[in-house]
Formats: sequence, structure tokens, C-alpha cells
Amino acid sequence: MKLLIKNGRVIDPAGKIEEVMDILVEDGKISKAARGIDVKADTLIDAAGKIVMPGIVDMHVHLREPGREDKETVSSGTKAAGKGGVTSVLAMPNTLPSLDSIEIIKTLKDIVKNTANVDVFICGAITIGRAGRELTDIQALKKEGIVAISDDGASVDNDELMLRAFEKAKKEKIPVICHSEDKSLSGKGVVNLGFTSTKLGLRGISKESEYKRVARDIMLAEKSGAGVHIAHVSCGESVEIIRKAKKKGVKVTAETAPHYFTLNEKDLLGYNTNMKVNPPLRAEDDVLAIREGLKDGTIDVIASDHAPHTENEKDIEFEYAEFGSIGLETELAVSITELIDRRILTWSELVKKISLNPANVLGIDKGTLGPGKDADIVIISPDKEWLVKKQDFVSRSKNSAFIGRKLKGVVEYTIYKGKVIYKA
Ligand code: DOR
Ligand code: ZN
Repeated sequence: MKLLIKNGRVIDPAGKIEEVMDILVEDGKISKAARGIDVKADTLIDAAGKIVMPGIVDMHVHLREPGREDKETVSSGTKAAGKGGVTSVLAMPNTLPSLDSIEIIKTLKDIVKNTANVDVFICGAITIGRAGRELTDIQALKKEGIVAISDDGASVDNDELMLRAFEKAKKEKIPVICHSEDKSLSGKGVVNLGFTSTKLGLRGISKESEYKRVARDIMLAEKSGAGVHIAHVSCGESVEIIRKAKKKGVKVTAETAPHYFTLNEKDLLGYNTNMKVNPPLRAEDDVLAIREGLKDGTIDVIASDHAPHTENEKDIEFEYAEFGSIGLETELAVSITELIDRRILTWSELVKKISLNPANVLGIDKGTLGPGKDADIVIISPDKEWLVKKQDFVSRSKNSAFIGRKLKGVVEYTIYKGKVIYKA
């Protein structure tokens, strides 16, 4: 089977490519990228005026299976991924039960094999039940195929236990993904501590609760020599701590989500619970610091933190609503609108942050259009505008913080292992 993509502007930072050319796909793999490829193909796509880039590798996705199929499933979540130009996802472990044993990893792998529409990589839990008391059998989980560990949704409070987790992860050559939050400081908070918490009379979550834990996680990682990846960075202080650690040579990478470089706490004045996320939307200064961190390379990765929740869990009083926004179907367009259009990132830098770098953090062979690689490709109309509408989401849950926003950049085709899995 041959698929030929003609005349697109190909962006492949791994191959230092950013020019108009053709891409030939044969039997699910990239055969070559060159100018003027003229072969008879089974499928021909005219990509003139369009961007052609490696499929997005989203390393922070809550697929909710097993256990919360009312929110999302592997099937529905990976279908949403396809619509968003995402061809690889990392499934986070805060499922029911959590991804903390060989049995449950096996169960998820079966579900993935039978129902997934894109590649699903698995993140195992650091501790049993993500309860922060006892380590999982990290070696056994690695043998079962996990590519990272995290207790996402929670942080391991016990320093000694966390240090041992880093040591084990180092031995297994997998990164530890940190949801850096000191619960003794964030407590029952629901919004950023500051202007909005005061104005709305809601309990606040201090920035200290995040950056103090970021500092601790980096310190323990440094001590162990393991790689640490800081998830969903939301405030300027965290960016600065990571920047300094990188300068010092610590093996730290960092990630942020589109809502943290786009929205701020004032957007919450209308009590939109879809914007209730953890960590919370911060002040405008923090948004600017996150953008600066993206620009100067302190923040390596953009991931959605796709966190689906049902209407019953979101359409209630702000205080009781669940934390999280879906993001698979909007992350690329929000990034184009907020980062490319504002000249914060170039196309090549964006592709690094959304495709190549996450693949490298996870040690998976994705995020590039090099010859012989899986033909995971997105074709985008970069200037086409669209309105985010609730009824258009294919994710099972519709809780997007971006509903009602006009975005730039439309995914025209998503190709996964050489097959068109989504067409606009
Ligand atoms: O907003 C969030 N939602 N933050 C998290 O850390 C967890 C996530 C979820 O699982 O819903
Ligand atoms: Zn988290």
C-alpha cells in the first residue's frame, strides 16, 4: 500500500527539515521525503498550502479506562486523539483501579489491543493505589511495558519513598512524571490563591504548593541520578526553578498544557467549571512566564492533560466540580493560535514540543518523519479558523475550557501507521 502526500510544507525537526516537499508512505512506514516524488500511489493527498508534521505525541492523557468508562474509554479517547492530530498518547494511571499491578496493566493492554485507534503507551503508578504509602513493583511493570511512572493527580509526600522510586526508575531507565503538589499547602483549595479566590470567596491554592514540591522532586531526582519530568507547570516560580536546575545539569524536563499558556484566573470570574483545573489557572504574570519558559526551552513539552469528566461532575457548584479540562481535540489549534501566531514559537519549535520532545522523554520511537519510522502524520490548514463548539467534540466528555473560542489551525488529515484515521 502506497500513500503519497504532495507539496506540503514538511516540518520535521528531527531531520532538520522545514520545506515544501512530498512524502511517500509504504506499508505503514515513511519511505522517503523528497521533492518531486512521482510514483503511482493507492492514495494521493494534495497538501499544497498545508503543514505536514509528525503526529502529536501527547504524554498526559486520562483515558479513564478501566473503571470510569462513563467519562471516557480507550476507544472514545483515541478517536478524539485522531481528530486532534494526536497519534500517540500516554495513558495516565489514575484509573479505577489505578495502574499499579501487572494484572491491571495486562487488562489495559487487552483493551488497547482491541479498541484503540492510535498508539497508547502506558504510565504505571508509583505507589499502590496512588496512595503514597508503598511502591509498586516498578521492575515488573516495566517488563509488562510501561514507559514511565507517575501518581498523577497526587504527589508522593514521603521523601524517602519518592527517592526510592527515583532509584528504581533509574534502574529501569524510565522517567518519573511528577504531579508536583504539596497537599498540606493546597488543601481544599479550588482556584489560585490571590485575586480570584478573594473576589469569588473560594478557597485558594497557593503557588508554593506547586513550586516547593517541584523543587523537592528535582532535588530527589538529582540525588538519584534519575530523569524527572515535571507535569503541568502552571506558575512562574516553577519555571525559574526548572530553568536553574537545567543550567546546573540536572536531568529534568518539563511540560505545560494549553490552558496554562492561554487562560488566567480572571477567566474564572464567570464560574466556568470547565476551567477548574489542577493546578489552577494562575495570574497573567504566570501565563507570561510559562510562555517565556516555552520560548527559552525551559519547558520542553506541550501536553493536553486531557481530563474528561461527566456533566454531573462539572455542571454543579464550583466548589464541588471535578478538576480538569479535555484537550486532545484543541491542543494543536490553541498552540497555533497562542504560540505561533504570537511569534512565541516557530513551527519547528512547536513540533519539537508537541511531537518530538515527548517521544524522547518517554524513549519511544515517534515524533519524526524520518525514513523507516511509523507513518504517523498530521496535515494541517494553518490559517483556517474555527469555533470550538461543545456538540462537535468526539470525546465522550465535553468539558473543554475552550468552548466558545475562535481558534486558528484545522487538522485536515490524521494518518496513523500509514492509514487515514481522520479526515476533516
Ligand atoms: O485537572 C486535573 N485533572 N489535574 C490532575 O492532576 C488530574 C486530572 C484528572 O485526572 O482529572
Ligand atoms: Zn496531574
